[in-house]
Amino acid sequence: MNKYTIFGNPVSHSLSPVMQTAGFRHLQLDNTYDKTLLTDENIKDIFFKLGLSGANITVPHKEYAYNSADIVVGDAKTIKAVNTYIRQGDKIVAHNTDSYGFMMAIDEFRPLSSVLIIGAGGTARAIAVALKSANLTTTVANRTAKKLEFFDMLGVNTTTTDNINTNHKYDLVVNATSAGLCDSDYPMSQDKLRRVLTDSKYVFDCIYGTMTPFLSMAKQLNIKYKDGEDMLLYQGVKAMELWTNTKATKGLINSMRSALRDKNGKQGEL
Ligand code: ATR
Repeated sequence: MNKYTIFGNPVSHSLSPVMQTAGFRHLQLDNTYDKTLLTDENIKDIFFKLGLSGANITVPHKEYAYNSADIVVGDAKTIKAVNTYIRQGDKIVAHNTDSYGFMMAIDEFRPLSSVLIIGAGGTARAIAVALKSANLTTTVANRTAKKLEFFDMLGVNTTTTDNINTNHKYDLVVNATSAGLCDSDYPMSQDKLRRVLTDSKYVFDCIYGTMTPFLSMAKQLNIKYKDGEDMLLYQGVKAMELWTNTKATKGLINSMRSALRDKNGKQGEL
């Protein structure tokens, strides 16, 4: 039996335990997966003290987890934030599976050539890195300029939401902010957002389990839209593959998805 957990603050709302436990049961593994509220403790010390084989990391610890890992693999090196830990002897190997989760979630949105991401936090970073690797024209818009520096360095287009060019056409518009999660906010001024969405084909919200004002606007404008459920699912599927060194079957994915849906009514962010 191996032990896993999700580190976060807050973490009580996380659906990862039900989803990952369903995955382990499907694979007939008696592994456990808990929630660990991490405040100011050292993540590496706790990881080894709890005798974990792996973990997920959620808000606000993804950057801290990146800095604490011994080995960082893949896209996570560019994103500089991680959501998955794997123990390898006395070392922690870290990955970011949010990029994979996002690309799987938007797989049905085709054809795609230009994407607007609203928000510039850790989730937006994972998405921008994935889109850039896929050679899609990417623009990041944030309400404040500070966090745009990362994206300027990455080489994607950036703007503040106040200065956004509403005449530009984006195939896909993504909400990677927390606007609409626990409030009725739009991620940018309602008027500007309506003008941007009017020319777009698809809309994706990283928030799951709730009809945000952002998604409601897409619905009203008859634009194909999706919430963040599949992104949550597939980042978890990828973590499961990494922990168990297996390739996910449709059966495994369906078990994990059903577990998420059974918890219907809960909402959250990655
Ligand atoms: P995460 O790691 O989940 O992406 P984060 O790093 O806290 O979270 O980033 C949250 C993002 O949502 C930021 O881009 C934030 O904008 P600021 O950089 O200006 O703070 C954005 N955000 C949060 N609430 C918002 C709101 N009500 N309207 C617009 N943007 C919002």
